[in-house]
Amino acid sequence: MSDFTEVCLVGDLPIDRARRFVVDGRPIAVVRTEEGVFAIDDRCSHADVALSDGEVEGCAIECWLHGSAFDLRTGVPLSLPATVPVAVYEVRLEGEGDAAAVLVGSASLPVH
Ligand code: FES
Repeated sequence: MSDFTEVCLVGDLPIDRARRFVVDGRPIAVVRTEEGVFAIDDRCSHADVALSDGEVEGCAIECWLHGSAFDLRTGVPLSLPATVPVAVYEVRLEGEGDAAAVLVGSASLPVH
């Protein structure tokens, strides 16, 4: 069982944008979409740049440098040049609506 760290409230997250947080020393991009809130390593697997500076479309975030999109649910790259998945983390919401706390798990989820 992993530990969870509260990073913000749901209302602090603009829809279809990423915000960067540091959890246990790891940079993590937390993204709110119409499908929910997701947490993904804030480092592209192609080069060491922040994914949180990229565009969010649907359930994917696109690296701003060379354009690889990563599935926010699995971390799997959906387009080249990246070929290696990035870690994703379990997210729990505690509370209701915009006042709900966003908690990010400490263990990465397995890649599917
Ligand atoms: S650095 Fe992200 S796709 Fe190249």
